Amino acid sequence: MTLAELKAHYTAHRQAHVFSGWDALPEKERAAFHAQLEAVDLKLIDGLFAKRNEPFAAMPAREYIDPLPVVGVAEVPPSSKTAGELALWNGEVAALVVAGGQGTRLGFDKPKGLFPIGPVSEASLFQIHAEKVLALSWKYETEMPLLVMTSDATHTETVEFFHEEGFFGLAETQVKFFRQGTMPALDLASGKLLLEAPGKLFLSPNGHGGTLTALQDSGLLAELEASGIKHIFYFQVDNPLVKIADPAFVGQHIESRSEVSSKVVFKEKPEEKVGVLALLDGRCGIVEYSDMPAEMLNELADDGTLAFRAGNPAIHLFDLQFLKRVTTGPDRLAFHTAKKKVPHYDPTTAMTVAPTVENALKFELFVFDALPLADRWLAVQTLREDEFAPLKNATGADSPDSARALMIEQAHRWLGLPVGSKPVEISPLYALNAEEAKAKSPKGFKPKEPTYLGEK
Ligand code: UTP
Repeated sequence: MTLAELKAHYTAHRQAHVFSGWDALPEKERAAFHAQLEAVDLKLIDGLFAKRNEPFAAMPAREYIDPLPVVGVAEVPPSSKTAGELALWNGEVAALVVAGGQGTRLGFDKPKGLFPIGPVSEASLFQIHAEKVLALSWKYETEMPLLVMTSDATHTETVEFFHEEGFFGLAETQVKFFRQGTMPALDLASGKLLLEAPGKLFLSPNGHGGTLTALQDSGLLAELEASGIKHIFYFQVDNPLVKIADPAFVGQHIESRSEVSSKVVFKEKPEEKVGVLALLDGRCGIVEYSDMPAEMLNELADDGTLAFRAGNPAIHLFDLQFLKRVTTGPDRLAFHTAKKKVPHYDPTTAMTVAPTVENALKFELFVFDALPLADRWLAVQTLREDEFAPLKNATGADSPDSARALMIEQAHRWLGLPVGSKPVEISPLYALNAEEAKAKSPKGFKPKEPTYLGEK
């Protein structure tokens, strides 16, 4: 668009104020601002503002919310692993890590994926994930794609890190970076776009659901489809224990013809602050912890366990065709609108505003809004100690200490070592599971010092 066209477009949408400081901008900043303005979908923004007071498809009434049936760890049919392995052999599975978050609670000054979590090796989270993908690629003689979703905050450092580390042994073409989208914020009363500074819109990440739309909008989904990918394994960067594309899980997903399959970790206490999978009006959905009334949090099933205990560790397997459906046309994920305090630059007064009450609307997509759109779904139990060691905080629960302890305990269990043995860390290139670890480790192995079992 030329500048004149862009101005006319913004004027037609009552957003001409963004140009008020234009003439004073240096040439280079004008070009960047032009590009930023061109990228905003003003029609979408108008629609969101018009509907700002309409509730998002609200949770159904309590009588329409039921516990979701979950396949227990001991109930996996033996055929599933074979079916999953076949899909892996055929190169039908890609791994997708979401790594766009700012990791504010952890207080690490780089993207979280660079955090040295390895308890002995100090391997980064990215190294551990990439080595799992490499080990699977070796095992199934394929080049499993690793899709890395970044954000403006994490993109450059992430890409540089993969280059510096030689892609951790993966082929460079196997790793596909794509960036999470951003959304502008609007003045609450007028719907006008807010600016961060002269010549700069106030933009923020568009939420974890932006992963799915970015896959589509970047053209990556079409590329993956053309290369024969059928299933996409989704996980978060901050969980070093995740079993990427676990063959039994892939097989269960395929055998049940599920459009989206999710792992769940059973909650043991009502106050665990985790969203749970539940049946919402007969469809699979997630009820966030903050939306759960106390009586639901505490409700017990006949066997005395929590009725709503299917905790969500954010591990999903999506069918590629399903992802196409929920990112295009009428089924495309819808934005949630939230009222927030947004400090911003006011071009009419040339002053920065620091609001004390909510002054703005922000918009986010949630990945779990995709779940109720699936016609067939599956929830599969996994054990916390096997697959969930979230790295969220600097100390205490879900911290580097707790995640490293879980990694060491898993290595001890895999090798049959007694509790209290010296720390052991197993690289995914050494073993991906207990059977492989047992088969590969020397007979009677007893670590005398902290030990890293690496590729050799
Ligand atoms: P969290 O919600 O735990 O956020 O992200 P975070 O950024 O890691 O940490 P805090 O809340 O700032 O302390 C869960 C996963 O979702 C990704 C993160 O990278 C992590 O893998 N994420 C989060 C994104 O990719 N984009 C976002 O905008 C937010």
